[in-house]
Amino acid sequence: MTVFKDRFLGKVALVTGCGSGIGEAVVRRLSAEGAQVVLAGHHLGKIKAVADSLPAERTACFEADVSKLDQIEHLVEFAVGRFGRLDVLINNAGVSAPGTLLEGPESDWRMISAVNIDGPLFLSRAALPHLIKTRGAIVNTASVSGLAGDWNTAYYNVSKGAVVNLTRTLALDHGADGVRTNSVCPSVVETPMTAERREDQAFVQRMVDRVPMKRLARPDDVAAAILFLASDDAAFINGVNLPVDGGTTASTGQAAF
Ligand SMILES: NC(=O)c1ccc[n+]([C@@H]2O[C@H](COP(=O)([O-])OP(=O)(O)OC[C@H]3O[C@@H](n4cnc5c(N)ncnc54)[C@H](O)[C@@H]3O)[C@@H](O)[C@H]2O)c1
Repeated sequence: MTVFKDRFLGKVALVTGCGSGIGEAVVRRLSAEGAQVVLAGHHLGKIKAVADSLPAERTACFEADVSKLDQIEHLVEFAVGRFGRLDVLINNAGVSAPGTLLEGPESDWRMISAVNIDGPLFLSRAALPHLIKTRGAIVNTASVSGLAGDWNTAYYNVSKGAVVNLTRTLALDHGADGVRTNSVCPSVVETPMTAERREDQAFVQRMVDRVPMKRLARPDDVAAAILFLASDDAAFINGVNLPVDGGTTASTGQAAF
């Protein structure tokens, strides 16, 4: 991993869903690049286990379920109270469940829409007054499944499509306030979210075959893109939904000639 020394020095970043996977890679990079980091997740033990290896004076943990409005508001108050400002919001927490519209129970949609849509939407709303003060940045973890459809993950596709358009909406309405909003759109990443599915070697092979770069994404591939979009290096990049997919979405979807 290339660490850009002090790129986030003096900046305060709030990251959700960082007890594992992409979020964990993001907080490790942010901390290595000098940020004060607030780790948020709904399992305190998981985020504390990550925080334990980071500098204590620049690290804080807050247990919050991003699908719950009151907890979201407390989370933002905690972050600003702890470090005095907020420069970066990374809406990364997310959940998935398999199934077509006919197969997935209503409870799956309620859960997925609450975490994947309500979470980033209301957390952005709570954080915006503070981000406007610092001319900060929001980065959402969307998905290639929000740029086009994927088979057998109906509710997830719809939820990530909403995140993609939330990104554009915030970029339009708050670009003039100095707040940039972008998202990353990964293909299948080697994280706990896909661990069970990846036990099926035939599934992994099918997925790898469709990626021009012939491998799955790694958490650090995605974290590096998130940090770029959150940093001043991306000062004039706003409203972008960036595929991190080894070229998968470069295809029309047709088979090779
Ligand atoms: N793994 C993939 O293939 C893939 C592909 C594209 C996008 N994504 C997205 O990346 C993001 C991170 O997922 P990951 O792959 O690192 O998987 P992960 O399961 O390791 O991380 C998701 C994190 O979100 C947290 N979380 C779940 N519900 C929450 C809630 N209600 N409140 C607070 N935290 C909650 C979990 O505890 C977990 O730490 C998600 O938004 C996911 O949809 C993942």
